[in-house]
Amino acid sequence: MPEHDIESLTPRERARIIKSAVAPRPIAWISTTSVDGVDNLAPFSSYNYISSAEPVVLFNTPYAEGDDQKDTPRNVLETEAFAVNVVPEALAEQMDTTSADLDADESEFEFAGVERADCERIDAPRVADAAVTMECTLYDSLRVRDRLVILGDVEYVHVDESVLTDGQIDAAKIDTVARLGGPYYTDSEPIELERQF
Ligand SMILES: Cc1cc2nc3c(=O)[nH]c(=O)nc-3n(C[C@H](O)[C@H](O)[C@H](O)COP(=O)(O)O)c2cc1C
Repeated sequence: MPEHDIESLTPRERARIIKSAVAPRPIAWISTTSVDGVDNLAPFSSYNYISSAEPVVLFNTPYAEGDDQKDTPRNVLETEAFAVNVVPEALAEQMDTTSADLDADESEFEFAGVERADCERIDAPRVADAAVTMECTLYDSLRVRDRLVILGDVEYVHVDESVLTDGQIDAAKIDTVARLGGPYYTDSEPIELERQF
């Protein structure tokens, strides 16, 4: 079985192993509005939550400045607001399309044909057909080596009727997609094993 000291690997080889091992990863489909009023939408799978009782979510992106910075982190740092949409399986292809590197004055909502709806608390749109959307304000950001980590305070949630059972959100009803290593996605079909403890 091959074993590797991380120091002996190239950054590309390290990334391949880490991204294949940390999988499947949930995808935050993040909507923002720029200070110039352009609605932006892009997927981020370096994503998770920290606290659930006092909900904080985080995602990360390459640390960059000026024109090299992606639109999403720039919009979040400038407006202090973003929405995390759960990707419905039916919109997986559109989600992938929104990862296109468009100019800052072009909106991925139009480019990928994604319908938007208004948020309640923040000045950004949400994905109208997402079963769950979390409206966030900027909690903090920090640099970790070559990455910028963005943390968001979840202020408001939208949960669609279709994923409720007895008025409560039902994880088994949420069809979403996640990312595996390489170019692969996976769906969220539960397996025949329930938690025992
Ligand atoms: C499924 C998926 C997951 C991605 N995850 C990340 C991520 O975690 N961090 C990141 O910086 N880019 C990620 N990307 C790439 C961004 O979506 C891509 O760079 C996009 O153009 C950023 O858009 P923006 O400039 O409008 O923010 C991912 C792409 C895909 C398709």
